[in-house]
Amino acid sequence: MSSGKGVILSGMRPTGRLHLGNYLGALKNWVKLQDEYECFFLIADWHALMSEYERADRLRENSLDMLCVWLASGLDPERCVMFRQSDICQHLELFFILSALTPVSWLERCPTYKEAVENSSTKDIANYAFLGYPALQAADIALYRAGHVPVGVDQLPHLEFTREIVRRFNNFYGGDLIPEPEPVLTEVVKLSGTDSRKMSKSYGNTILITEEPKELSRKINSMVTDPGRARASDPGNPEICTVFEYHKIFSPEALPAVESACRNAERGCVACKKELGLNLEKLISPIREKYLYYKENSDKVTKILEEGNSRASSRARENMRIFRKAMRYE
Ligand code: TRP
Ligand code: SF4
Repeated sequence: MSSGKGVILSGMRPTGRLHLGNYLGALKNWVKLQDEYECFFLIADWHALMSEYERADRLRENSLDMLCVWLASGLDPERCVMFRQSDICQHLELFFILSALTPVSWLERCPTYKEAVENSSTKDIANYAFLGYPALQAADIALYRAGHVPVGVDQLPHLEFTREIVRRFNNFYGGDLIPEPEPVLTEVVKLSGTDSRKMSKSYGNTILITEEPKELSRKINSMVTDPGRARASDPGNPEICTVFEYHKIFSPEALPAVESACRNAERGCVACKKELGLNLEKLISPIREKYLYYKENSDKVTKILEEGNSRASSRARENMRIFRKAMRYE
């Protein structure tokens, strides 16, 4: 049943524990969108398999863990549909149909593909499925006829690909079968990792959304500060300090005080980090608490996934029937 609200689809690959970058860049925004749109949130485990095929067994397990983090962060099964790609067979069905319409050159010129192949020294991802990554993503979106897709800027080439392939599908099979989806760009909050490089699992510089208090303080204490500030009596420059970048996001009210205490050497970095730690713990602790609750009540999580799968599946079947009919491939 459609509610008359626009349809949103977005997804995440279950490749590991989610960190604060994932929270600020996507999840926090998804939580807000739940009431404005009819939202479908996808656990993209087929997409994960394309690069993590050696650890296939872990992906199913990671899917449930990621769902726990989604629930803990405020996604509500009453207000959105959370489901797993590999449980809804129509994703691969539509992926195949779209693949038939996709010139290989469109995939080869995709910047995310080129980059991934160039940067992957450790494992071989130049596989047949991985080349088709954007076509599967297009199928994810088209299957629910989503008009809007919240993504980060890194995903824009995939959305552009989706628009092109949807246009082609509509041209071949008649009219406005599938909307050309628009990106909903997340307000860009760039969060560096604890070593000041981009926050990324592969750099080992993340802070988890569900980080334990001890680990949280350890990670904050290890953060890079103004290297010119050797003693607490030296005035610091907050503009080149990662801790200050975090304060900007997580301690907005305290910012003027933090800045002047640093510039005037009124407070040392240890105390400054301590304050950040308290503010981060305020954000993280309710999420962590709910996360642990869901980890302990895995039967509830399984049930939520089953219900989400069933709602996604009935929409997918409904739309697939319409597409096949238009193709005269019933
Ligand atoms: N490729 C996306 C990412 O890595 C995940 C994804 C899969 C997705 N299917 C999608 C995002 C459909 C938006 C819409 O972040
Ligand atoms: Fe960074 Fe705070 Fe130290 Fe200034 S006082 S350098 S903002 S950690």
